[in-house]
Amino acid sequence: MRIRTGITGFDDIVQGGLIPNRVYIVAGPPGAGKTTFGIHFLVQGAKEGERGLYVSLTEDPRNIIEDMSTFTFNIKRYTLGGLILFVDMGPLSIQYLNVIKNRDKMKSTYAEEVFKKISALVQMKGVKRIVIDSVLTLRYGSGKEDEQNREIARFFRSLKDLKATTLILSEMTDLSNYSPEHYMAHGVIFLHNFLNGNTMTRALQVIKMRGTKHDCDMHKMEIGVDGIRVFPTKV
Ligand SMILES: Nc1ncnc2c1ncn2[C@@H]1O[C@H](COP(=O)(O)OP(=O)(O)O)[C@@H](O)[C@H]1O
Ligand SMILES: [Mg+2]
Repeated sequence: MRIRTGITGFDDIVQGGLIPNRVYIVAGPPGAGKTTFGIHFLVQGAKEGERGLYVSLTEDPRNIIEDMSTFTFNIKRYTLGGLILFVDMGPLSIQYLNVIKNRDKMKSTYAEEVFKKISALVQMKGVKRIVIDSVLTLRYGSGKEDEQNREIARFFRSLKDLKATTLILSEMTDLSNYSPEHYMAHGVIFLHNFLNGNTMTRALQVIKMRGTKHDCDMHKMEIGVDGIRVFPTKV
């Protein structure tokens, strides 16, 4: 069984969708379409009667809902109906950033607090699809880089034990410098947005997808009023 993202053209290039109960990364520069990708995935779940959760670590969810309301997939209908839940972890991240110097005094780390919240909602509300926006904030919640990496590894392991499919959005833009989360994820999808002559070109690339036959080419992608559309054509 595959989890359909509902993104036109994407499911076709990954054998019908994502393998359930796994953790995937959707990476790309600002404006590449990561949030839109995540919302598509939750809307598709809602259409199939599966409850989704959008965990916002920085942005106020009200802004996300407002921005996503310009698309035709009618996000408000599902938020009002309770099939898509938003949780705002922004205020907590600020608390953690403020105390970063005497972090030893905190009982748990930011990533642990975020996981506790997710896990509680999965149990209480039967959440099946999760989007976490974004991994960068999780890193800022810890100290030195090796400590951050250990923290992220623990976070990934915990997510993999949940009976839910997770997309982690990542701002990572340097494609030559893979970070540990890309090794830990079951799948990595890159959204590109780059200057090609005089025009900005969008492309989607499946870098890795365990258990799935796929190509690693850059597929032409567009964002229009209906959301993301991926083409079989390569760019
Ligand atoms: N209604 C719309 N129609 C077409 N394109 C849109 C619409 N709304 C947003 N976009 C485009 O999609 C991009 C937003 O992508 P977003 O998912 O927020 O990116 P990211 O989360 O990667 O920063 C915008 O920068 C804009 O170019
Ligand atoms: Mg975004």
